[in-house]
Amino acid sequence: MKRPLVIAGNWKMNLGPREAKQFFVELRTRWPESNLEKGKDGLETVLFVPDLSLASSQQTAAGLPIEIGAQNAHWEEQGAFTGETSGKMLRECGVTHVLVGHSERRQFFGETDETVRKRTESLLDQGFQVMVCIGESQQERESGQTQQVLQKQLEGVFCPNGRATSALTVDLPAGKRSVSVAYEPVWAIGTGLTATPAQAEEAHHFIRTWISKTLSPQAAEGTPLLYGGSVKPDNIDELLSCENIDGALVGGASLKPESFLSLIASGVKAL
Ligand code: PGA
Repeated sequence: MKRPLVIAGNWKMNLGPREAKQFFVELRTRWPESNLEKGKDGLETVLFVPDLSLASSQQTAAGLPIEIGAQNAHWEEQGAFTGETSGKMLRECGVTHVLVGHSERRQFFGETDETVRKRTESLLDQGFQVMVCIGESQQERESGQTQQVLQKQLEGVFCPNGRATSALTVDLPAGKRSVSVAYEPVWAIGTGLTATPAQAEEAHHFIRTWISKTLSPQAAEGTPLLYGGSVKPDNIDELLSCENIDGALVGGASLKPESFLSLIASGVKAL
């Protein structure tokens, strides 16, 4: 079975419970006019919403083929970690998908490769679908460090101290792989500067090759690799046409039902 194509939205700290409800009410109304079938084989759609909007999103998205995910989770089940939410708590709320290691968490909240690894391992152990974000800064790209940075981030999460974690190496049944990797160059996030399809494809090819060599060819074949960074309805098609790009992680353009639907439509077209 082929790896899925994934259209993911990251609302960041936007859309509280009331606005989330409005979003899904409007999305549901617009769904028929966008000519999308209900579920489409091979396409996965997920929206990572603020924790406080999980319940209202789940309620108002019920019946739509959209998974509602969280933007972060702590690796411990419970304890003295003020302001954090555990996977166990998310599970209790019916959440199955979690985003981990977003560059904003790395930049502003002290997230490191080590904490990204701990979150990823713990969430996978608990049966979540985990989307791990990596990506280089502008300075790192300009100084020719892109591949070293990606390699370091991949090693930190999936192969710490030269020992591959089971996360990507276990031979899961076809279609059951629970990790995806989002390549998001920091300089392209929220800036309107998108990586060119060639730049994105080069990075994705590098990531796929790393997974194949370091973990296994099966893991490389089965892991969806998403591009993120100023993806919009008018640039997604050419990104999705690249060989190693299996989807998109979208911030700003996922906040409006109309543009999110248009991104999903592009996903359907690219299948
Ligand atoms: P953007 O954000 O689409 O607004 O650039 C992407 C992301 O941060 O995941």
